[in-house]
Amino acid sequence: MNGCRATLENSPPEVVQFATVNLHEQQQLSSYPPIAEACAARPWITPLLQQLQATYPDAYTHSLRVALLATKLAEREQLSADDQRRMTVAGLMHDVGKIALAPEIFSQETLSPEQRLVIQTHIRHSYELVKAHDETTAQIVVGHHESQRNPYPRAQQRADTPSLLHKQQKLLALADQVDSLLSDQAYREAWDPDSVFQYLTQHFTDPELIDYAIGVRSELST
Ligand SMILES: [Fe+2]
Ligand SMILES: [Fe+2]
Repeated sequence: MNGCRATLENSPPEVVQFATVNLHEQQQLSSYPPIAEACAARPWITPLLQQLQATYPDAYTHSLRVALLATKLAEREQLSADDQRRMTVAGLMHDVGKIALAPEIFSQETLSPEQRLVIQTHIRHSYELVKAHDETTAQIVVGHHESQRNPYPRAQQRADTPSLLHKQQKLLALADQVDSLLSDQAYREAWDPDSVFQYLTQHFTDPELIDYAIGVRSELST
């Protein structure tokens, strides 16, 4: 089974060189059974992931890690098997909308307010790309930045959001933030786990779950 392993054959040389740094990690993550199975069962996922990898290798690796984390969190929260699978797909696809944006914007150390707004549109693009295949998962994806200090795209959760969907959005947001904060970014170095824990307790209500997510993510670091 090829799963969702992307091919680098058609990538420009500079992308291949950059992505090779993470190739081992990418291969390991894409072989994680829930990820490989999600991709094998949904043929629309792999071409999107291939585009993400060719354009933003770091965002591709981040998405694989978020998919693994989101799956583990869903497992720990005892979501149904179907809902765990949705969390895997949501993790893989949550940032795929970045393929619609110009690459230069993600390599800058500082961003203007206008550029920040452009980056925020990745959620709308992710939502549209996923909605074409899976409306429920698209609803999970669209909420992945709504537990941040400055939430977007909506200022706050809709009051009529079903509780399961709300829970899935929160789990995806936790997986996304844990991985982002514990990873080096173009504009900052990775935070240490204690600082991540302190920060996330201001935004998520279950300290044990935060601690668990940090532990899973830390084990992925090499
Ligand atoms: Fe995102
Ligand atoms: Fe993300």
